[in-house]
Amino acid sequence: MTDPAPEAERRRTFAIISHPDAGKTTLTEKFLLYGGALTSEAGSVKARGERRSATSDWMELEQKRGISITSTVLQFPYRDCVVNLLDTPGHRDFSEDTYRVLGAADAAVMVLDAAKGIEPQTLKLFEVCRERNLPLLSFINKWDRPGLDALDLIDMVEKQIGLTPHPVTWPVGIAGDFRGVIDRRNGEFVRFTRTAHGATEAGEEVVDPDRAAEEEGDAWLEAVGEVELLDTDSTEVDVESFLAAETTPTFFGSALTNFGVRKLLDSVIELVPPPRPRLDINDLPRPLDAPFSGFVFKVQANMDKAHRDRIAFFRVCSGRFERGMVVTHQPTGKPLATKYAHQVFGQDRETIEEAFPGDVVGLVNANEVKVGDALYVGEPVEFARMPSFAPEHFSVVRPRDIGRFKQFRKGINQLDEEGVVQVLRDRDLGDQAPVLAAVGPMQFEVASHRLANEFGAEAVLTSTSYRVARITDEESAPTLRAMKGVDVLGKSDGTQYALFESQYWLDRVEAEQPDLRLDRLIAEGAAG
Ligand code: G4P
Repeated sequence: MTDPAPEAERRRTFAIISHPDAGKTTLTEKFLLYGGALTSEAGSVKARGERRSATSDWMELEQKRGISITSTVLQFPYRDCVVNLLDTPGHRDFSEDTYRVLGAADAAVMVLDAAKGIEPQTLKLFEVCRERNLPLLSFINKWDRPGLDALDLIDMVEKQIGLTPHPVTWPVGIAGDFRGVIDRRNGEFVRFTRTAHGATEAGEEVVDPDRAAEEEGDAWLEAVGEVELLDTDSTEVDVESFLAAETTPTFFGSALTNFGVRKLLDSVIELVPPPRPRLDINDLPRPLDAPFSGFVFKVQANMDKAHRDRIAFFRVCSGRFERGMVVTHQPTGKPLATKYAHQVFGQDRETIEEAFPGDVVGLVNANEVKVGDALYVGEPVEFARMPSFAPEHFSVVRPRDIGRFKQFRKGINQLDEEGVVQVLRDRDLGDQAPVLAAVGPMQFEVASHRLANEFGAEAVLTSTSYRVARITDEESAPTLRAMKGVDVLGKSDGTQYALFESQYWLDRVEAEQPDLRLDRLIAEGAAG
């Protein structure tokens, strides 16, 4: 039987984060192209989603909004490794899924648009990476188009993100006049040649300095001058500070023309750490070669109208997973058959036969499985729960037709379990008029779409005046409840949220009554 430890060593599990339009989808396609997983024309990741959209509720909504809601994983071999690229939705809105997916990654690639630098969503996503101490590589994209100055961009990353950028490649030619890159690790100049529509790998030619000076003229001299400025730092990537999320190896390129994509992908293989033993709830590592265990990081229902099913995605944490094996579902202690194990991308499903640490598996119709649950064989294990993220949008939800209350309640509970939205209840009103809390308002659209289409309970959402949430407790709750502009509502897991009408009001309450418990939630206050 295949030994899980060496298989784990070959895995590279990471996500790409970016502000919408910075080029995440394009870069994903190009990774597939270089990984040999995409032989037809580039653009098929997107095209595939669009082609199949007619068959699914999700896709219907996606198509309407022109965005991608589903997020799963792409797996492809590259060099001696197996790459697991987790897809985080790049749309303007956030959902907790985005955060959770990052919880299943070992590193992230941050894509920046060379003309825009750091944008609000980049910052927000970065906050989550920081929270998890996730190592980050940076790709400054669209260098084929006019943009900002390379040194200014580096400066921006340092000032706004607080990570020290370590340029691994440096562009020859300003943004809009992209000739190639200098690889600072060996001083080589790699010149690129365009291919038609970026459909094949970019031509790369190593050019020696004399010829570069002759053929590239001022662009070359300028790049050399800038590299000399940078060379006060070490040219080698300091792996330790990268893994500690203090420095970010930085690459310049253009996903559209494929320039610089190979250098980035090679560095992903070299730098992204292979899966490490995951800590259990008592902070003890579960060794990679222990019997199988997995951590559920995402549950998604009804991805396909034809199937009407529910998929629980788990990341393998230890051992070898084999389809059909019977695993234990930690919270209930019940056995779970895994006959329907899939690898899912968008609407495409492939049966998966085996998986190793770092891989992601989708279990179809594992109805009791929730986000945060552990699955295991042998020695029981429970992993630390994922935190909830600071909601910034709050709406009261009611059934349009009170005769459908039962369906409404079922739907709300299901959406709560899946983490589509957070459901907050008043201790007296309960399910009569729960408050839906979301990181981004699109979560509400998804929730009401699903309540109507899946549970047959049309909902009416009324926005509230609440803007900020904090975690509080039973002791502080009565004082808070008695205040104007504050309410205390509970989640199904017992957590109490204090909701405030404004940050100003919250600041005042905190200043005047410092004894009240008002804990911050994750990723709160990030720009966006
Ligand atoms: P996202 O997933 O981060 O939202 O971005 P996406 O890859 O969809 O890219 C957004 C737009 O930027 C696309 O153009 C894409 O072609 C373009 N783009 C991505 N990388 C580069 C690059 O390196 N150089 C240039 N010049 N453009 C790039 P679009 O017109 O919105 O879409 P499409 O019609 O090209 O699909």
